Amino acid sequence: MNIFVDDIIKMISAMVDIPEQEIRDSVEVPPDEKLGDYAFPCFVLSKKLKKAPNQIATDLASRFKPTELIQEIYSIGPYLNFKVSKTRLAESVLSLIFEQGENYGSDNTGNDKTILIDFSSPNIAKPFGIGHLRTTVIGNSLYHIFTKLGFKTVRINHLGDWGTQFGKVILAYKMWGDENELIKDPIATLYDLYVRFHREEEKDPKLEEEARLWFKKLEDGDREAKALWEKFRSYSLEEFNRVYRILGIEFDAIAGESFYNDQMEPTIQEIKGKGLAEISQDALVVNLERFGMPPCLLRKKDEATLYATRDIAAAIYRYNTYHFYKSLYVVGTAQKLHFQQLFKVLELMGYQWAYDCVHVDFGWIKFKQEMMSTRKGNIILLEDVLNKSIELSRRIIEEKNPELENKEEVAKEVGIGAVIFADLSTRRNKDIDFDWDQALSFDGESAPYVQYTHARLCSLMRKYEKPIGKEVDYRVISTDEEITLIKLLESFPRMIKFAAENYEPSYICTFLIDLCANFNRFYQQHRIITEEAGLTDARMFLVKAIQSTLKNGLSLLGIEAPERM
Ligand code: ARG
Repeated sequence: MNIFVDDIIKMISAMVDIPEQEIRDSVEVPPDEKLGDYAFPCFVLSKKLKKAPNQIATDLASRFKPTELIQEIYSIGPYLNFKVSKTRLAESVLSLIFEQGENYGSDNTGNDKTILIDFSSPNIAKPFGIGHLRTTVIGNSLYHIFTKLGFKTVRINHLGDWGTQFGKVILAYKMWGDENELIKDPIATLYDLYVRFHREEEKDPKLEEEARLWFKKLEDGDREAKALWEKFRSYSLEEFNRVYRILGIEFDAIAGESFYNDQMEPTIQEIKGKGLAEISQDALVVNLERFGMPPCLLRKKDEATLYATRDIAAAIYRYNTYHFYKSLYVVGTAQKLHFQQLFKVLELMGYQWAYDCVHVDFGWIKFKQEMMSTRKGNIILLEDVLNKSIELSRRIIEEKNPELENKEEVAKEVGIGAVIFADLSTRRNKDIDFDWDQALSFDGESAPYVQYTHARLCSLMRKYEKPIGKEVDYRVISTDEEITLIKLLESFPRMIKFAAENYEPSYICTFLIDLCANFNRFYQQHRIITEEAGLTDARMFLVKAIQSTLKNGLSLLGIEAPERM
């Protein structure tokens, strides 16, 4: 972990014959100051020493002598508690952050192992709605987090661009479509056609049959069907890319459902060959009854394949292509059963790696206040939400800091950040009741609050004027507020790992809010730029470390950190 833990390990292993790694694995950071900076639970030793843990703790505590790094050792119950030298703590944390800058927290846990992240994955010819916000921002943040930990990450957009619904869109377009309208507003036009088709098909069931034939043609590679579908797809992608550009999100592979079309037949043959397929109600399925799940549908009676079939093919393709260590699917809780079925089928097919597939699920998002009129009925467009947020930030900045030079850019960074943070700061499995006031608040748990604190630190650094150097007298760092800040900074690398292990970017949000709140408390109680040069230098060194860690943390969420606001 760090030099202090190394020292603790040295002490314990000098007295007890126990492997160092075992000590390292057991050392904890207690939740409460009174329990020291580090603690070691003596349960681990009781078998070896054949004594009660409380007794061991008391014995050892009385035999240890303080070192240069560990200043106090005492026991509470079965725990050995250690207090570290504040000066050495400040030195080790701050000099490390100074050295590593925004790389602080990076490590090679990942050891180049590959993690696939299937995220965002909207459906073409449909509005890119607020329903896809969570997958998009959670997936992107996980990408930053795992990359930081030394994993090879592959960002995959599993576009919903295949399925019987495209037979309907093609037919509707042929009947009622207008090229000019399509060019002007492609997704809205296509979606209107789709909705209209649904209405008409209720009155005239023949339409459904006809649409089915169009999808069949598409699957068989018919020129006209293919050309129309390609047009719809590329127009849709243009709109999606606009949103990705606003959010600063990129993908390594845009391999939608259609990408696996030529692997449908071999996949089905493989499942059949392994004796897993059966016919049920005219459809080809994998029976999952003995696992308490409904059957996984592979092919309908009209021969069309399904979402699940394409996901099975995709998973196999992904393993063969990337030999992943983990394959993540960042998709809402509504699809929980789908992924349970998918992973079970892969397991039944004999793929050990099925256990390395993870459904990173999340709850719903809804909007408390009335959204402005949307272009499309009651679907709230992601792009509209982002633009509204930018507009609201623009107004706030105009009010707070009308002189600001690059207002437009900052409004964008703050507006986008506000939406991302509002989403990511909620635990994945909880629903979000999106609230504009809270998202844009400058003193709540929001991106603008973190960004504003960051800008305040930058402004202090400008005022200080001198370059912030390494020659610092750490002994002057002594107030409780400073020590709390340093301990928080020290915990950052662990927080990143914790967030990665749980696929939970919200831990980074909590960390950032905590760091800001503690800095602001410090700032209210103590002067930073003082009459004493030595004290000022040391405090500015701390300021610089906090500033770079805030920027660092925000970047893990996919949020910018403007220097002035
Ligand atoms: N297109 C789907 C939707 O919008 C999400 C796809 C998620 N990824 C996957 N491999 N199934 O609901």
